[in-house]
Amino acid sequence: MTHPLIEQFQRAGQAQVFAFFEQLSPEARQRLLDEAAEIDLAEIERLNRMLLAPGAAAGVDLEGLEPAPYERRPEQGGDPAAWAKARAEGEEALRSGRVAAFTVAGGQGTRLGYDGPKGTFPVTPLKGKPLFQVFAEKIRAAGERYGQPLHWFIMTSHANHAATEAFFDAHGFFGLERGRVHFFRQGRMPAVDFEGKILLEGPGTIALSPDGHGGSLRALERSGSLDLMQREGIDTLSYFQVDNPLVRAVDPEFIGWHLLRRSDMSSKMVPKAYPEEKVGHFCVQRGRLVVIEYSDLPVAMQRETEPDGRLRYIAGSIAIHILDREFIRRIARPAAGGSAGSGQPNQALPFHRADKKVAAIDAAGRPVKPDRPNGVKFEMFVFDALPFARNPVVIETRREDDFSPVKNATGVDSPQTCRDDQLRQFARWVRAAGGAVETDATGLPRTVFEVSPLFGYDEESFVEAWRRLAPPPAVRDGLYLESS
Ligand code: UTP
Repeated sequence: MTHPLIEQFQRAGQAQVFAFFEQLSPEARQRLLDEAAEIDLAEIERLNRMLLAPGAAAGVDLEGLEPAPYERRPEQGGDPAAWAKARAEGEEALRSGRVAAFTVAGGQGTRLGYDGPKGTFPVTPLKGKPLFQVFAEKIRAAGERYGQPLHWFIMTSHANHAATEAFFDAHGFFGLERGRVHFFRQGRMPAVDFEGKILLEGPGTIALSPDGHGGSLRALERSGSLDLMQREGIDTLSYFQVDNPLVRAVDPEFIGWHLLRRSDMSSKMVPKAYPEEKVGHFCVQRGRLVVIEYSDLPVAMQRETEPDGRLRYIAGSIAIHILDREFIRRIARPAAGGSAGSGQPNQALPFHRADKKVAAIDAAGRPVKPDRPNGVKFEMFVFDALPFARNPVVIETRREDDFSPVKNATGVDSPQTCRDDQLRQFARWVRAAGGAVETDATGLPRTVFEVSPLFGYDEESFVEAWRRLAPPPAVRDGLYLESS
């Protein structure tokens, strides 16, 4: 059986993809051909050469690395007037409808081990609201506050797209206008064995997996989301991950810093909690902003201190960014030329190699159950766009106001730690508003209560809403503050 696509795979040394083709039903053959058509063979060939060939796995280039500068918060010595100006600028952008929210929700969530899209995971302490609902309510509340409902882009994967859409449908889009919530799938990449041969998951199925959160930039372009933004007059995207309910999904100060600096891509940092915290580090190299993963930064550098005792590489990345629409286009379409006066060449994000256990079949069609990595997945990371950004700005945020992800089933960054961090935040807000709440030494309240983002989604909006209550309620088990 010949087919132009099969011949292409044969010429590329990937004939094994069609090894069982003759045994498949006509429908299964077509499905396999459709999957194969998704694969850019030249890209796989290039990645095999760059990332798999012997000696290819050279370490990360650390030459000329310096800590990245960042904007300190006012209480850490930053200029209060500059932060106030940023806030005003961000609020103006929100009032004029220039900003949309963007959630990447295409990950596989293997560490959490939850059956279903991660965004449907129940996360809040009292009501058990799913992650998607928390973001939806924050976005709704911000829209109401600034008199301009926001659009929300959600990137899914092939595996969770239908379930994600069905979930929103079943919950009435959590009160958001359907027409402003946009789902699109991210791209997929085939896994290969250590010789670079594309793996099959079954006789008629290629081992395909999501292409990493960095794939979001080309998926935004390919899905028509950037064109939609342009039609709607949106030029600024607030990027966050699906696993972090604490995130200030719509943060006027952050948006304002980004806009005032005419930045292509901006980021939030938190001071590392301890020298070897497992986060990416914001650094500058040859005049460009880069994120160096903890695993690539020698421990001695992770521990380096300034003369005043502060950590030298202190700026930890928490995967929260603001992106400019046209910058995304430039990254998404590297071949399209048109760097249009930017002075920067168009750039594609690099792929990273991750050695993983891949469910696959062997040459005889028997399933292999690997107990150690048997293949390689290729992924892009969104922070790899930073070196190509003009005027990138990094601002400091308070960890307790922006970051407590659910990554693992137990232990650090688990549902339990995230629940406790939400409760601590609610307690801090109550106190900031002048209310009383009993906590332990870590600030964890002794009662389980909950604040809906529709009541207050940051300290300021909470304090305003609380003060409108006459009299304010006692904080007790089961208290739920829903709307002001
Ligand atoms: P993680 O790096 O935590 O990966 O994703 P993950 O797939 O969710 O979880 P594990 O590693 O399998 O346990 C960080 C964020 O990036 C998104 C995730 O949905 C999450 O919001 N992501 C990750 C994507 O959207 N696509 C990807 O291909 C990878």
